Amino acid sequence: MNAPTAIRLESVGRTFVGAHGQPVTALAGLDLEIAVGQTVALLGPSGCGKTTTLRLINRLIEPTSGRVLVGGRDAASIDPIELRRGMGYVIQSGGLFPHMDVSANIGLLCELEGHERARIDARVDELLELVRLDPASYRHRYPGELSGGQRQRVGVARALALDPPVLLMDEPFGALDPITRGELQRDFKALEALVDKTIVLVTHDLDEAFLLADRIAVLRRGELLQFATPQELIDRPADPWLARFVAGSRIAAGGSDA
Ligand SMILES: Nc1ncnc2c1ncn2[C@@H]1O[C@H](COP(=O)(O)OP(=O)(O)O)[C@@H](O)[C@H]1O
Ligand SMILES: [Mg+2]
Repeated sequence: MNAPTAIRLESVGRTFVGAHGQPVTALAGLDLEIAVGQTVALLGPSGCGKTTTLRLINRLIEPTSGRVLVGGRDAASIDPIELRRGMGYVIQSGGLFPHMDVSANIGLLCELEGHERARIDARVDELLELVRLDPASYRHRYPGELSGGQRQRVGVARALALDPPVLLMDEPFGALDPITRGELQRDFKALEALVDKTIVLVTHDLDEAFLLADRIAVLRRGELLQFATPQELIDRPADPWLARFVAGSRIAAGGSDA
């Protein structure tokens, strides 16, 4: 009954060289297993290693120790381009190219794959519909002509262009005002196209993790403090620090997420 593993981190460590030449341990031997189709939130305070973990998964950086397995294969042995073709990547503020219009941004990966123009145009419109932007009004706008929420929607559409089985999202709703953030979170949760995808979502927002994730990996100072379902985190937080953190959540306090 257990779903197969999509992504597995085995004792993954990553050290950087700090501004004064000193070693900075971003991750200290992280073990994590993410099942196919699961949404896992990487949750923790700033600097705890969330972004580093995400970038290790798509090989924007390499581990100093340990290894990352994707679909059972050592990521180090997979061509980075091939690896990333199967992993959409969404970053804060959308990460759109400012000199390219919405359709060029969303269609970029399809174009690199050599798809025909008509097919790309149809896919762009389909993706815009998916993220609830009217294609006729938005396809030829530039990122500078969009609101923050709209840019983020385009960022999600672009990440889904090649229908990758895995979606990596780094604080995708973090730069938005609370109302827009809530709208995007609810729309995102309702997206049928995401049901079968494996999603790794970086956030420092506990309520966002509770709302969107099947399981939450709580990181602190480069270490995994707890990996559990939202309910388990509420019922049995691993230590007093986490108990206090969880107690500060609206959802854990019985508030509505609607
Ligand atoms: N390229 C880098 N060079 C030096 N230090 C880095 C680099 N990337 C991350 N770090 C350090 O690693 C730690 C974890 O960073 P990061 O993964 O970005 O944290 P988070 O995303 O949880 O805020 C921090 O101390 C950060 O300063
Ligand atoms: Mg980060």
